[in-house]
Amino acid sequence: MPSSVVLQSLEPLTRQALIDRLREEDPARLEELWQAADAVRQAYVGGEVHLRGLIEISNYCIRLCAYCGLRAPNTELTRYRMSEEEILACARQAHAMGYGTVVLQAGEDPMLSREMIARLVRRIKESLPLAVTLSLGERGAEDWAAWREAGADRYLLRFETSNPHLYRKYHPPKGEERETRIEMLRRLRALGYEIGGGVMIGIPGQTYADLADDLLMFRELDLDMVGLGPFILHPRTPLADPDFRVLVPDGEQVPPNELMTYKTIALTRLLCPRANIPSTTALATLNRGQGRELGLVRGANVVMPNLTPPRYRAYYEIYPNKVCIQESAEACHACLRSRIEGLGRPIGRGQGASPNYLARTGGAGGDSSA
Ligand code: 5AD
Ligand code: FES
Repeated sequence: MPSSVVLQSLEPLTRQALIDRLREEDPARLEELWQAADAVRQAYVGGEVHLRGLIEISNYCIRLCAYCGLRAPNTELTRYRMSEEEILACARQAHAMGYGTVVLQAGEDPMLSREMIARLVRRIKESLPLAVTLSLGERGAEDWAAWREAGADRYLLRFETSNPHLYRKYHPPKGEERETRIEMLRRLRALGYEIGGGVMIGIPGQTYADLADDLLMFRELDLDMVGLGPFILHPRTPLADPDFRVLVPDGEQVPPNELMTYKTIALTRLLCPRANIPSTTALATLNRGQGRELGLVRGANVVMPNLTPPRYRAYYEIYPNKVCIQESAEACHACLRSRIEGLGRPIGRGQGASPNYLARTGGAGGDSSA
């Protein structure tokens, strides 16, 4: 591996080493981390940047997450749900633009019934050579099984934090639900999905040790995809109230900033070398000029252009000041293309399954090139 030289210059990634790296401020040592992550990315997943067409199909949500603007009690948000035909039209557009994957994302919306999603997945899979990723929150095992049966390839469910105290406080359980998202991810894996997890960086009360534990959990779960972004405060959520926030001693709180996001992306790449890691919209929100590009040269290998029809986009307001709220799908496509080409990286072809998944399944579920 060409990366071995760089890797040897980094100590074994124990919990303490991760904490130290997350606290690192020395420019030379940071540069060493960026280079190691970039070399490992090149060696394990190659230079290609995969594009995933993101379709935000509904912003209805029954949950009470303390960080998220889609939470049910936010009555100031205009709610929308796309029709099946609208979603299919976006999927066709994704294919026309050369994307190999569509991601259907929504709040936790019970009106997206098991049958409706299964039918939609079937229709996409029958008519287009696309991988289908679902990101529809916590659903029952029967829903997940039916959608897998219908042909869904991947499921994204960020576990948000591996600290059980923070998780319970900021992510109140639904009814009698006792399973954590970490357990749900294991269940999704058993159903044959390629699985994606991830966390927010710098949520109030998150310590460096917590974030190091999150990183170790990515490795333990052997995630195929890892989504990471800075926490961005939404004014109409409980976290806007300082009295609600979990406080930790001075110097322990992870800051929700750009540099911390790069460090986390880079360390994730070292721990999960074959995972697909997006350079996320939340990161681009903190640095509109360069955020996506810097993510891509510090470990990331995926970008998710937004295909949600512009008339709905502004309403998918998980956090404020999201980028690309006014842009058409074509504008985002052209913008991202030129950014990726500016890095001298090729745009990935085909469905771009995670090499991690391919290695685990012996290549089943591989690319049928788009
Ligand atoms: N800031 C940044 N990311 C957020 N998410 C939810 N709320 C926020 C916020 N205020 C992330 C969560 C969720 C994903 C869809 O968006 O990680 O899983
Ligand atoms: Fe949407 Fe650049 S990605 S405008």
